Amino acid sequence: MVNLKTSVALLIAVILPLAHAYTWKNVKIGGGGGFVPGIVFNTKQKGLAFARTDIGGAYKLNADDSWSPLLDFANDTTWNYWGVDALATDPVEPNRLYLATGMYTNSWDPNNGQILISKDTGATFTASKLPFKVGGNMPGRGMRVPERLAIDPNSNNILFFGARSGNGLYKSTDYGVTWAKVSSFTNTGSYIADPTDTTGYNNDKIGIAWVTFDQTSSSSGKATPRIFVGVANKGSDNIFVTTNGGSSWSSVAGHNSTYLPHKGVLSPAEKVLYVTSSDGAGPYDGTLGVVQKYNITSGVWTDITPVSGSDLYFGFGGLTVDLQKPGTLMVAALNSWWPDGQIFRSTNGGTTWSPLWAWQSYPTMNKYYSYSDSLAPWLGPNYVDTTPGNKQIGWMMEALVIDPFDSNHWLYGTGATVYGGHDLLKWDTAHNVSIKALADGIEETSIQGLISPPSGPNLLSAVGDIGGFRHVSLTTSPTTGFTNPTWATASDIDFAGNKPTNLVRIGTGDSTSGKQVALSSDSGASWSQDYGAADNVSGGKVALSADGDTVLWRTSANGVLVSQYTNAFAAVSSLPSTAVIASDKKNNTIFYSAAGSSFYLSTDGGKSFAIKGSLGSSTSPVKIVVNPSVTGDVWVSTDKGLFHSTNSGTSFTTISGISQAWAIALGASAKSGGYPAVFAAANKGGIGYYRSDDTGVTWAKINDNTRGFGSASANVLTADPRIYGRVYVGTNGRGIFYGDI
Ligand SMILES: *[C@@H]1O[C@H](CO)[C@@H](O)[C@H](O)[C@H]1NC(C)=O
Ligand SMILES: *[C@@H]1O[C@H](CO)[C@@H](O)[C@H](O)[C@H]1NC(C)=O
Ligand SMILES: *[C@@H]1O[C@H](CO)[C@@H](O)[C@H](O)[C@H]1NC(C)=O
Ligand SMILES: *[C@@H]1O[C@H](CO)[C@@H](O)[C@H](O)[C@H]1NC(C)=O
Ligand SMILES: *[C@@H]1O[C@H](CO)[C@@H](O)[C@H](O)[C@H]1NC(C)=O
Ligand SMILES: *[C@@H]1O[C@H](CO)[C@@H](O)[C@H](O)[C@H]1NC(C)=O
Repeated sequence: MVNLKTSVALLIAVILPLAHAYTWKNVKIGGGGGFVPGIVFNTKQKGLAFARTDIGGAYKLNADDSWSPLLDFANDTTWNYWGVDALATDPVEPNRLYLATGMYTNSWDPNNGQILISKDTGATFTASKLPFKVGGNMPGRGMRVPERLAIDPNSNNILFFGARSGNGLYKSTDYGVTWAKVSSFTNTGSYIADPTDTTGYNNDKIGIAWVTFDQTSSSSGKATPRIFVGVANKGSDNIFVTTNGGSSWSSVAGHNSTYLPHKGVLSPAEKVLYVTSSDGAGPYDGTLGVVQKYNITSGVWTDITPVSGSDLYFGFGGLTVDLQKPGTLMVAALNSWWPDGQIFRSTNGGTTWSPLWAWQSYPTMNKYYSYSDSLAPWLGPNYVDTTPGNKQIGWMMEALVIDPFDSNHWLYGTGATVYGGHDLLKWDTAHNVSIKALADGIEETSIQGLISPPSGPNLLSAVGDIGGFRHVSLTTSPTTGFTNPTWATASDIDFAGNKPTNLVRIGTGDSTSGKQVALSSDSGASWSQDYGAADNVSGGKVALSADGDTVLWRTSANGVLVSQYTNAFAAVSSLPSTAVIASDKKNNTIFYSAAGSSFYLSTDGGKSFAIKGSLGSSTSPVKIVVNPSVTGDVWVSTDKGLFHSTNSGTSFTTISGISQAWAIALGASAKSGGYPAVFAAANKGGIGYYRSDDTGVTWAKINDNTRGFGSASANVLTADPRIYGRVYVGTNGRGIFYGDI
């Protein structure tokens, strides 16, 4: 029996273009994979917490310790939403959430920032545009807690936001909808990380670091008069206070302002402001620092730094108080690069401290913790060994929080992941806590290259900062990244068409591994260095010949090079250094290239190229993909559209309706033996992701407004030759997504 409801549903299903509806999921790398500069618990609603990242948006904590992304709708227009420079969760109405977003304050991001306002704990947002840029991925991005965006806990319509770049302090009195500059606040921060930098990145002012309301100075319903503001000044006044809600400000007397104040956290029951400082803005630096406490009642500052002398070789970042246990606080070394990160805990307001580890007798460490990387095995001892530079506890430790409702529950962010646990009180009894990688659901990697060969794992990746993976499963975290050579950032990966277990991958010169070309003949399970590569050459894009014996390499700074049988790479003088390259997947001697409006062909194994045809008015080709079973059948995306040739580039068909295209891919055909499905990130009356099942005549959009993939030009695509409709989108900040019809 078919009930009415079912038949109506079926009818709707038939009418809607169901075949084009895609299901998108993250390929699970697990463990985050990047810097988590901020984690904030709501102080009113138990279990409500958020994490912000520098390039991958913000996340909400779930009851099972996993995280859910909040900003996946960010698209080519709104890509800078993924740079979250500050986050505030409302202590009065917990449904209200605010994110200060924008990626860079220099030319790398042409857009001003905005405050994203949610009234439904992050399910939906509206944007309040700011008159200046916000830098979620700029220096000093961890230098804030309770964040440079703060909500008055006594009158939650009032928010303050401390801007970068000398733009000063801003205030809203209407829940973040409109903002006005606080003209009485004039010390907007002079510190610049590196005045010699000319890119605008390290030579911009960090500005205002944090805003902390002293809720004890008022009561519910009455705007808080006493507010502390930390400013990125080094060696001059850097903590200011108002006692009249911001009409006038003064420097907090008696404060030693030698270092940059990274955090200012109030312990309301003690009426104490705790401050951590470092001699650098972070996130990578810091060799000295201080922890201070300010007794608001007496006006007395006390230096409570946990270590001194030669034990003090780092600055302080993370700072948290246990709201249930006044006087209990923890601080993190921002960067203790060797032998490992460090965290200190005090239960008496900083009079005495105990560390997370201590030397037993060098080189043996007493680790007052157990460690689990079960949710992201590639993070842990299986991958990161204990040699100097590879750490278990972490680095870039700016985010450190104790759950305000649960003294046992804590989380901290590192340069690579989120750690935490549920037995923190054991620190005070057994002095031994469980630390677990708890970044499940956070995928914040920058994907540089993806391949889906016809055999072996369906997906292999080249990834920024964490190297890359063979994704044997899309739903469980890989046990290990690519190793031997191990590179922080791999810039590209390719496979040989006729021998698809043969791979090449390229490093970016960020390790001591020497050669930046690696070869595999077992689908990436093991690798060897390509001794044909010179030590000082790295980066760029790579193409492996059909039989796997020839590597064509467009390097980042040394032009296009080619090598057969791992002989020394030789310059390919017939190609410009900006050339886009690809290999034929059938014929071992054939390679393709494009630059400007020219399409090039090589029939001698990449040694020489000749201009074969023209790509219309294109000035910058993006990608060439080749039909895996037909030599000479190529697609080229450019700033002027999408082009298809079936004669090795002698002539091209311009795909109608597409004005610009970025990443493209060919995947399994809709019908057996048919032409591959074509995928493109393209502007087709709107920037989106499209699939064509008829060689580019008609296209279906495969993403929607809930799934924007950030900046189109930064993304990579590959399509699965084994599964019709399956496409993989590698993003710049939100890891890899796979989509199925
Ligand atoms: C301020 O702090 C610095 C660094 O800890 C220290 O060297 C200096 O002596 C302090 N100044 C005063 C006046 O205490
Ligand atoms: C702060 O100073 C006041 C006045 O001297 C004192 O009574 C109070 O105990 C101090 N608070 C803390 C947490 O030390
Ligand atoms: C803490 O507990 C773990 C797990 O039981 C153990 O391996 C470690 O040795 C303990 N640390 C110390 C210092 O006893
Ligand atoms: C690499 O360095 C060597 C020695 O300094 C130099 O001779 C060679 O030209 C360099 N190679 C490239 C491709 O720049
Ligand atoms: C591969 O291409 C070359 C150059 O066009 C051609 O000479 C050769 O016959 C082709 N090989 C095969 C197996 O088709
Ligand atoms: C990008 O997202 C914004 C805001 O969600 C939306 O208004 C716009 O239409 C989207 N643009 C495209 C090209 O999809």
